[in-house]
Amino acid sequence: MIFNHYHHDAQTVLDGSVRLSEHPPIVFITDGGATMQPSLLEELTPVPSPYPIRSEVEYPDVWRLCEQARELAWNPTSIDFSDLREADIPTEVREAGAEWWSLRAWMEHGAVPYGTERLREAIFRHEPFEIKQHITNFIAEELRHHEASFLIANGLAGYQSEPRAEYFKAIIPRFHDERDEKAMSFYAGLAVNTLFEQLSGELLQARYDNARFQSVRGACQLILRDEARHIQFGRIIMRRFFAKLSADDRRLLGDKFAKKLRGSLLNGVYAVVNLPPAERERAGRNRALAAEYGLGATHPDEEIAIIKRGLDQIRQDVAPYDVVIPEIAEVDRAGAAAH
Ligand SMILES: [Fe+2]
Ligand SMILES: [Fe+2]
Repeated sequence: MIFNHYHHDAQTVLDGSVRLSEHPPIVFITDGGATMQPSLLEELTPVPSPYPIRSEVEYPDVWRLCEQARELAWNPTSIDFSDLREADIPTEVREAGAEWWSLRAWMEHGAVPYGTERLREAIFRHEPFEIKQHITNFIAEELRHHEASFLIANGLAGYQSEPRAEYFKAIIPRFHDERDEKAMSFYAGLAVNTLFEQLSGELLQARYDNARFQSVRGACQLILRDEARHIQFGRIIMRRFFAKLSADDRRLLGDKFAKKLRGSLLNGVYAVVNLPPAERERAGRNRALAAEYGLGATHPDEEIAIIKRGLDQIRQDVAPYDVVIPEIAEVDRAGAAAH
């Protein structure tokens, strides 16, 4: 579908009311000066080969992950959330839990636009089938993590489709900055991202340990199982591509990693440490409340220590490839001060 272009006026496109049978395919779309949606313009990217299909398995280890993904698929709607609905917990705890799991849902969803950009690149670069398949699985999996998270929020006090705090409204849309991704090579970018999967996996493990409700525990476990494959993919990519990176690329990797961690993930996503004081107190208090009642949250006082452990592990993993992750003061110094 993506490779077929049809002539129609821009307004019809915006209406979504195009009847394809009435419009024979042509090579170019002219928009007659009217506004076109950027996605439509992007479809004009020339495709170098009309047969962009590579069926030979180039990365058998990636293909194995794809097969596991098929075997281990799960459905968030088959989790029974009645334990949350029926739980005898105070309203403010329900509210705190709903806020927390709404935030978790937004975080999970952040991986979806990221993933679609990577899938698009993989398709246009004619990457092997298993790479395209893995990224497609990744998108579907992140989407079901998002779904499971908003279902948990719904079981508590209702999913908040938008952040309520002004500060979060500014932060959430900046989870993913495509300019940072485009600055790296395709495989280097994929590997950097899976370093974050490793960190969020550590945090999710702590949230699973915290969860006292069967539905939340089950959801965390299923999400963790998917994340383990995402981390595995990163390790495969690292092994295959990191050794070939230029010194500049290696430096860029460390910098991008640190930038993302400090710029968005410590601003309430992974931890509340970089939030402005009032919001830090409010969000931290709610998070602590959710953790106290076993709703699958991490206490704000524990988060930095978990991130520090994860970060040290990641530094060890990338050190053999001469990738250095610069000091991240909020994490590295907080850890030092605590000892
Ligand atoms: Fe996820
Ligand atoms: Fe993931």
